Amino acid sequence: MGVRARLDEIGDIGRDPVRGGYSRHLLDDADLALRDWFRRSAESLGLFVEQDGNANLWAWWGEPGMDAVATGSHLDSVPGGGAYDGPLGVASALEAVARLQAEGFRPTRPIAVVVFAEEEGSRFGLPCLGSRLMVGASDPADVRARADREGVTFDQAWTAAGLDPSTIGPDPERLGRLGAFIELHVEQGVDLEDRGMPLATASAIIPHGRWRLTVDGEGNHAGTTPMVARHDPIVALAEVVLAARDTAVAAGRGARATVGRLAVTPNGTNVIASRAEAWLDIRAGADDDVRTLLADTLARAEELVAAEGCTLTVAEESFSSIVAFDAGLTERIGGILGGVPAIPTGAGHDAGILAPSVPTAMIFVRNPTGVSHAPGEGARDEDCEAGAAALADTLRELAS
Ligand code: GLV
Ligand code: MN
Ligand code: MN
Ligand code: MN
Repeated sequence: MGVRARLDEIGDIGRDPVRGGYSRHLLDDADLALRDWFRRSAESLGLFVEQDGNANLWAWWGEPGMDAVATGSHLDSVPGGGAYDGPLGVASALEAVARLQAEGFRPTRPIAVVVFAEEEGSRFGLPCLGSRLMVGASDPADVRARADREGVTFDQAWTAAGLDPSTIGPDPERLGRLGAFIELHVEQGVDLEDRGMPLATASAIIPHGRWRLTVDGEGNHAGTTPMVARHDPIVALAEVVLAARDTAVAAGRGARATVGRLAVTPNGTNVIASRAEAWLDIRAGADDDVRTLLADTLARAEELVAAEGCTLTVAEESFSSIVAFDAGLTERIGGILGGVPAIPTGAGHDAGILAPSVPTAMIFVRNPTGVSHAPGEGARDEDCEAGAAALADTLRELAS
């Protein structure tokens, strides 16, 4: 039926009329509708669908057995995200299976199509929540202690969806069944567009982490509080944001610092805030570079916040070390795809979480805009179909 037609089936699910693009977050109405779509699509291909204890969905072609070749991605999005980050990998995996079935292929190893839960961390702050829990990289107690922006706790969200939060955690039995994992993903940059190539493999994911900065000040009246008598956490935080940017620029070597999310209490026009929070996303070429960039930013932040008579609290929400994908598998896929480049990426993926445990590789599909995590994300129809064909070729070779 084609990748585009599969994406069109979910094109109206989770559209965000305010931000544009899509807002699809773990176990919200859109996510549940997407999960339902996945289940129906997989079952119509004769796959056996199950949900694991971490809310990841698995669709098996053949008995769920050992040495399986798994492929897939995620269906959740960032707030106001694009149409491809995640869903392209899932739709392409389904399409690849459909292509192989149409040609009469019979896999000698089980093939699984997987949808990982909450890859973006947009609801509970933990990117790759489902895969991290499965491999044991996150503590279930830490996950269950989290709440979303509306104050809905993890346990409440899980229970409302009919799930049992006590089932989350390491799943060595399932992990042990996987012989390989391949994630196809839209490229989140313009490298392939610049090279004039539709596809690539991934060499590595650069390290990244998230920190929540809470600045507490003194709430007061906007009209009656003299400028010199204020302890305004928004003013302090504004300077911290600039310091983070400047520190990353000074560090160079691909270092990145981003504050893309803020929260203000009580958030009133005529009120000096009592609290301002920022979520700081830092990425750099090496784990130590991320830590150094964080330390330098926080040292500066302490000074800036103190100068405003406010206090700063810092909490780490996630940290992901550098990931090198399986060189042999990546080279093999590169060969199957006709000799494509292996490129590093600054974006996180479930593939990066699985890579230390399972031979893992990625296939990137050209993005003509280079934009991602925003409505302008793009992928041409012919490149999407080429990606699914490449994934089918890869599965055929690995499961023959
Ligand atoms: C997820 O896509 C991330 O890289 O933040
Ligand atoms: Mn993403
Ligand atoms: Mn993604
Ligand atoms: Mn991602």
